[in-house]
Amino acid sequence: MAGLARVPDGSVDLILTDPPYNLGKDYGNTSDQQSMEDYLAWTEAWIDAALPKLKPNGSLYIFLTWRYSPEIFVMLKKRMTMMNEIIWDRRVPSMGGSTRSFSSVHDTIGFFVRRKDYYFDLDAVRIPYDAETKKARSRSIFVGAKWLEVGYNPKDLWSVSRLHREHAERVDHPTQKPLEIIERMVKASCPPDGVVMDLFMGSGTTAVAARRCGRDFVGFELNPEYCDIARRRLEALAETGKPVSDPQGQTPPPRRGRRAKSAPLPSEALEQE
Ligand SMILES: C[S@@+](CC[C@H](N)C(=O)[O-])C[C@H]1O[C@@H](n2cnc3c(N)ncnc32)[C@H](O)[C@@H]1O
Repeated sequence: MAGLARVPDGSVDLILTDPPYNLGKDYGNTSDQQSMEDYLAWTEAWIDAALPKLKPNGSLYIFLTWRYSPEIFVMLKKRMTMMNEIIWDRRVPSMGGSTRSFSSVHDTIGFFVRRKDYYFDLDAVRIPYDAETKKARSRSIFVGAKWLEVGYNPKDLWSVSRLHREHAERVDHPTQKPLEIIERMVKASCPPDGVVMDLFMGSGTTAVAARRCGRDFVGFELNPEYCDIARRRLEALAETGKPVSDPQGQTPPPRRGRRAKSAPLPSEALEQE
């Protein structure tokens, strides 16, 4: 909150943030192990501190779990206009899973704006038709159609594999988000040379995505080890031009970021990546 106070009001094009989900994870701090009342009060406090930093035509994306998205979406809907609920289908299920309910395999992402003239560059995030889908549109009336060449606009269900331990992009952070998802948000909702702000940087995925897309960023992270990872990812990007997965060549130790043993949370929390 102290760092946020140093960011000038109205200076940020896009708030893209992935806060603790309050599922009991150990981030080296207790941010993910709060009572429901404390978690929601804290969320409201940082939302109110962050929103003045946004430009009037700016946007906000927030990653959440279905457990708290209803309450937090209501909070945000009192302050902004909700444009989408995006479902991130993590595709690769986590080990185990509930035997008394359906295993959760998605994260919930809210997309909010302030005004009707919000920045949104659809062409930057169109998905090219592949040979197979093009074949399905091969009737003569479609040939040469512009929409067929520029690709289709992404829908609100995003199927992108989570970064499991063997994934090339994975570093030592328990809830690292895929660059593919973050870059889609940056390209669509932050103008070139604009500024992206992430209040919960973790391993620095938003910073790496912003750099790769030619945008500036500002962000915060409580855990100094994660700050180091973020710095190394940015240095590796500057040196190689590639978002190297683990700049020190380390294999993530197995237990980091698992649910804290003492956290009094339901067993389903274990399903979360
Ligand atoms: C869900 S993770 C973010 C992961 C990130 N998107 C990535 O791809 O690596 C949430 C992060 O917020 C951090 N955090 C918790 N409370 C914080 C606070 N008050 N200020 C800054 N960071 C905080 C945690 O340490 C954790 O790394």
